[in-house]
Amino acid sequence: MPFTIAIDGPAASGKGTIARALAAHFGFHHLDTGLLYRAVGAKGGDPVAAAQGLSADDLARGDLRSAAAGQAASRVAAIAEVRGALTDFQRRFAAQEPGAVLDGRDIGTVICPDAAVKLYVVADDRVRAARRAAELGADVDRMLAELRERDARDAGRAAAPLKPAADALVLDTTAMDIDAAVAEAVRIVRAALG
Ligand code: DC
Repeated sequence: MPFTIAIDGPAASGKGTIARALAAHFGFHHLDTGLLYRAVGAKGGDPVAAAQGLSADDLARGDLRSAAAGQAASRVAAIAEVRGALTDFQRRFAAQEPGAVLDGRDIGTVICPDAAVKLYVVADDRVRAARRAAELGADVDRMLAELRERDARDAGRAAAPLKPAADALVLDTTAMDIDAAVAEAVRIVRAALG
């Protein structure tokens, strides 16, 4: 049985960094599922067709990390047919031996409801905005407005809204640096591995 780790949470909560570090630590595969939605949004045209025809080249575009790509991703991610077109790929990815870490918004609730570990990573939105602004070299207030708009859309949509699974452990990284957050996540996974 492959070991699946589901990591969800709002934008810039630290979940991507934690997911990458866990995968490296335990030798698991890692999928940043936000990248799928960013690639669909960046492709333009009909988002459902874009999701159905998503290619490796689409995922390799250099402009997917921008704030604009994040907003476009959040918009197409509200379309149920777009989400449906990406579900099988994510579930096949999660089924790889010896295990996989997937991070996103609906991994613990919809994509991998039977994941062995579910983390819901949160942080104060001002702290998240400051982190993202430093990363992108952008203005903090503009980042804060952008994150709030995206979080509200992601949490308010009907299709697979952003929310913790009932059995998720909440990890608040507001007062943690990245090393402390990763150490805590490693401790939780190690305990689950037994
Ligand atoms: O994790 P991220 O910031 O790269 O995600 C970009 C957008 O994609 C996010 O605002 C909502 C959407 N998304 C989603 O709806 N479901 C996921 N599993 C991952 C991302």
